[in-house]
Amino acid sequence: MTTDRFAVAGQTAIVTGASSGIGRAIAERFAEDGADVAVCSREQDNVDPVAEEITESDRPGEALAVECDVTDREAVEALVEATVEEFGGIDCLVNNAGASFMAGFDDISPNGWGTIVDINLTGTYHCTQAAAEHLKDGGGTVINLSSVAGQQGSPYMSHYGAAKAGVSNLTTSLAYEWAGKGVRVNCVAPGFVATPGVEQQMGVSADEVDREEVDRRIGESEEIADLVQFLASEASSFIVGETITARGVPDVMETP
Ligand SMILES: NC(=O)c1ccc[n+]([C@@H]2O[C@H](COP(=O)([O-])OP(=O)(O)OC[C@H]3O[C@@H](n4cnc5c(N)ncnc54)[C@H](OP(=O)(O)O)[C@@H]3O)[C@@H](O)[C@H]2O)c1
Repeated sequence: MTTDRFAVAGQTAIVTGASSGIGRAIAERFAEDGADVAVCSREQDNVDPVAEEITESDRPGEALAVECDVTDREAVEALVEATVEEFGGIDCLVNNAGASFMAGFDDISPNGWGTIVDINLTGTYHCTQAAAEHLKDGGGTVINLSSVAGQQGSPYMSHYGAAKAGVSNLTTSLAYEWAGKGVRVNCVAPGFVATPGVEQQMGVSADEVDREEVDRRIGESEEIADLVQFLASEASSFIVGETITARGVPDVMETP
């Protein structure tokens, strides 16, 4: 085994929700390793600086910024088209775009429920279906972002937990459907990772989080990028349809 098997150099990847947090770290990591990346978010002004930063750095990969709301099928198809036109194909799709808000189940309106399911789950469906023919051209990988909230239930985020459980389930169904076509589909379920999105949701910075509420080390976006890179690389060739949890360990582990 060589470390080359962990490389994504030479691939073309689409990373959705790449203007911030985990998505941005994944895009930067892929470009650093020599992959070309199409980075998207709902606002061109948010995603342009990410592509500029990648292009102006000494990272070998190129970047293309595309405004795309993953809930808008036409915009998603345009993202796929723009990526193929710019880079000649798609090897890896990272369905990272996601959002949530905290609310008791009784207070979640149909609109609020629909919005969260649309972004997290239906957005994953749109992007994956739109990219399918290009991924199937020569194999490829799809890596979805779920959450521990989708595995263990999530009080005050029931809409988000349900959507992320759906993402995980879709991962396995699709992985088996597409296995014969050489496309590997996997999923990452992070615990608490310090990102602008989570800090905004909690109303405090990661440093100020109540340690009784969050009893584990808070992760870094780069640690999720490590796992996503692995799942996009040859080194994970025997991993298919899995959701891999990345959540650290509790702060205090008693020695038995
Ligand atoms: N951070 C955590 O603790 C944690 C834990 C478990 C799972 N996750 C999952 O990891 C992923 C990234 O989370 P994060 O914490 O890095 O989030 P974040 O900092 O809030 O970033 C979310 C990204 O998604 C984009 N986005 C939101 N709605 C979109 C839409 N409809 N279409 C396209 N882009 C959209 C945002 O960009 P614009 O606002 O510019 O559109 C932004 O780039 C999400 O799927 C999240 O659910 C995060």
